[in-house]
Amino acid sequence: MRQKIVAGNWKMNKTLDEALALASEVSNMVKDEVNTDVQVILAPSFISLTAVGKLIEGQKRLALAAQNCHHKTSGAYTGEVSVDMLKSIGVSFVIIGHSERRMYFNETNEQLAEKTNLLLQNNIRPIFCCGESLEQREKGIHIDFVKQQLTESLFHLDTNQLQKVVIAYEPIWAIGTGKTASTEQAQEMHEVIRKHIASKYGEAAAAEVSILYGGSCNPTNAPELFACKDVDGGLIGGASLKSRDFVSIVKSFS
Ligand code: G3H
Repeated sequence: MRQKIVAGNWKMNKTLDEALALASEVSNMVKDEVNTDVQVILAPSFISLTAVGKLIEGQKRLALAAQNCHHKTSGAYTGEVSVDMLKSIGVSFVIIGHSERRMYFNETNEQLAEKTNLLLQNNIRPIFCCGESLEQREKGIHIDFVKQQLTESLFHLDTNQLQKVVIAYEPIWAIGTGKTASTEQAQEMHEVIRKHIASKYGEAAAAEVSILYGGSCNPTNAPELFACKDVDGGLIGGASLKSRDFVSIVKSFS
């Protein structure tokens, strides 16, 4: 049975005090209200990672994620954060390849392959983001584009490594726009992703990979999205900044 996951990507929001308050609220609500076997992940900014990590330590349903890491092990990369550093503070997941990083920081599929390797070597699970622009969807090249993202960044891995990767499908046109993919659009691409993985690693391996949906996911649309056969949870942006909304999304699995 593959893992159900809901991850909150707080992006560049929340000061340290605000991050601690949000983490504390989420932690209490998850403890009191969530009975399903779902892995809840919090991804605060680098500034708040250590403190939030300490706050949620020992809470078995909660795990800590970073929003990025550098693709080299160490060295003269001013302002960057290494996988080693993240490991030293107990980070267990790292979001990589978010479309905002691909777009504003020119991250390439090749760099993401390097990040994936470094993370897995350090026993940290990548949450690998993929997804097409509106223009690509309108041109009908969205499926090939997403397959290429997966092939170029992940398909050098062996089966055991691949199964540790969490995939997050985030159509760029749905991120922060209030425009969610329909359940048909989400299911179609999740199925494409799973079949693409199966074409290289076999169906049994592909069936174990968690594939999350991201893009204007909220407490209202989460239940129908999460009910799709190949949708195993969500990577939540805006709605993860409000504890009640985020925990409602966590509770959306039927
Ligand atoms: O990482 C999260 C995604 O970019 C989705 O963001 O829920 O604000 O649309 P959003």
